[in-house]
Amino acid sequence: MTILTTNALGVTLGDPLFSDLSLTISKSDRIGLVAANGRGKSTLMACLAGTHEATTGEITRARGLRIGHVSQYVPPEALGQTLFDWVLTALPAEQADYESWRVDVALDDLQVPYEVQHQQLKALSGGWQRTAMLAAAWVQEPGLLLLDEPTNHLDLSRISLLEAWLAALPRDMPVVITSHDRAFLDATTNRTLFLRPEASRLFPLAYSAARAALDEADAADERRQANDLNKARQLRRQAAKLKNVGVNSGSDLLLTKTRQLSARADKLEATARPVHKELSAGDIKLGNSGTHSKALITLDDLTIETPDGRMLYRTGQKWIERGDRIVLLGKNGTGKTQLVQRIALALAGQDTGVRCAPSVVPAVSDQHLSQLNGDETPHQAVTSAFDIGDQRARGVLAGAGVAFQMQDTRINALSGGQKARLAMLLLRLAQPNFYLLDEPTNHLDIEGQEMLEDELISHQASCLLVSHDRSFLRNVGNRYWWIRGKRLEEVESPEPFLAEETQA
Ligand SMILES: Nc1ncnc2c1ncn2[C@@H]1O[C@H](COP(=O)(O)OP(=O)(O)OP(=O)(O)O)[C@@H](O)[C@H]1O
Ligand SMILES: [Mg+2]
Repeated sequence: MTILTTNALGVTLGDPLFSDLSLTISKSDRIGLVAANGRGKSTLMACLAGTHEATTGEITRARGLRIGHVSQYVPPEALGQTLFDWVLTALPAEQADYESWRVDVALDDLQVPYEVQHQQLKALSGGWQRTAMLAAAWVQEPGLLLLDEPTNHLDLSRISLLEAWLAALPRDMPVVITSHDRAFLDATTNRTLFLRPEASRLFPLAYSAARAALDEADAADERRQANDLNKARQLRRQAAKLKNVGVNSGSDLLLTKTRQLSARADKLEATARPVHKELSAGDIKLGNSGTHSKALITLDDLTIETPDGRMLYRTGQKWIERGDRIVLLGKNGTGKTQLVQRIALALAGQDTGVRCAPSVVPAVSDQHLSQLNGDETPHQAVTSAFDIGDQRARGVLAGAGVAFQMQDTRINALSGGQKARLAMLLLRLAQPNFYLLDEPTNHLDIEGQEMLEDELISHQASCLLVSHDRSFLRNVGNRYWWIRGKRLEEVESPEPFLAEETQA
C-alpha cells in the first residue's frame, strides 16, 4: 500500500540538488538514501516531512499520515530539558497528561537506563541525544519514519541495538534512512535511492548490492552514449560524402537524403543520455607542522570524573609521543569525552593536571563541532582567525567543498558534512602538530572518511582520536587505549573491544 508519492520533485538551492524525482513509498519499504555530502539528502527528508518547500513538483501523503522525522541535529531548545521530558513534549498535550507510560515503554525498548532518562540532554553524550530524538519521533506513533544519519554519535553496541530495534518494528512500517555507514545500511534497508541532480536512481536492493547495480547501470549508460555518439559521427560522415556527390551532380534527391542523415545525427546527439559524473564534495587536507619534543602530552595518573564529580576511571601513567595515533576505546558514557575535554582545556592553557609540551600546536575538534560559530559565515571564520587574503580564503574554502555561493551565508546553512569539512580546513590552517579529534567521521561521506584516514597517516600526524567507525579506527590507529572498568588500559589491538561491543 502506497503511503507517500513524490511527483517530479525538485529542489534548487544555488545549484539543483535533485530534480524530477518520482518516488513511491509503500508500507514495507526500508529505503536507504545515499549521496555525497551536501547533495540534498537532509533537504529531501525535510520535504517529505513537510518542513521544507520543494522548488518544483508535489508530494501526496496518505490521509492522516503522521511522519516521525529524526533530523541530523538536536534542536537547541531540547538541550535544557531532561531526556524524559523532551520525549514527553512530543506527545499531544492531553496524552502527555494521562499517557506518559508511552514514553516509559519507548525508552525501555531503546534500553535507556533510568538515571540517564532524568538528566538534562545537554549533559548527556551525543549518542543519548540521538536516542532521545528517536524516542520522541517514535512515541508519536508515526506511519512513516525518517531517520537522518541515525548512527552518528552512537557507539557500536548502540548501533547494533538500533539495528535490532529497526528489525523488530512491524514489517509494514516504512522507514527512510540516510547514512554513510555501509554496514548499517546493508543491515537495515531493502531499497536504495541514489540521489542525483538529474536522474536519481532507485534499486530494490540494500546498499552493497544496489551499489553494484548502480555501477553496472552507469557503465551501460556510458556504453550506450558512446555508441550513440559513434553512430552520429558515422551518419555525419555519410552525409558529408553524399552532399559532395549531390552538389556535384545537382541531385535534389541526394541533398534531401543528406538533410535526413544530418537530422538523424542531430537527434542521436541530442538524446544521447549524459553520463552521470560523481563530483567530489571537496578535499580534506591536514598538515603536520612538526615539533622537537618527543612526549607531547603526559597524563600523570589522572582521575577522570563526570561533571558532577562521580569517579569514572584512573588513567595511570601515559604519554602521547610524536607520531602516535591513539584511538580511545570505550562504551558510550564511559568518559571518553571527559578525558578529551581535560586535554583540550590543558592545551588551551588551563591547569587540569595534563602536562603539554610547550611546542605543541593543537588542533581540537569536538563531537558537535562547537568550535564553529553557526552565525558567522565560512568566509568570516577563515579570515577572522587567519591572516590570509580574500582571494586565498575563497580558494581554500571552495577546495574544501564550500561553494562560492555558500561562503557568505551562515555556517548553519551548510550541510552536516560541509560543516565537518569546514572544521577540518580551519584546523589545518592553524598548522598544528597535534590533533585531538572527537568523532571526526560523523557527518562525513565515505570518500571524506577515506581522505581523512589518508591524511592522518601520510603526514604521520600525532593525534588522539575518539571514533565508533570500525574501519576508520582500525586503519588509522597505531596505539589503542581502552577504558575498561575503572582503568585506562593500553591494548595491542582494538579487536577484543570491537568483538565485545557488537555481541552486546
Ligand atoms: N541559501 C542557499 N543557497 C545555496 N545553496 C544552499 C543554500 N542553503 C543551503 N544550500 C546548499 O544546499 C545543500 C543542502 O544539502 P543537505 O543538507 O540537504 O545535504 P546532505 O546531502 O544532507 O549533506 P550531508 O551528507 O553533509 O548531511 C548544501 O549543499 C548547501 O550548501
Ligand atoms: Mg544531511
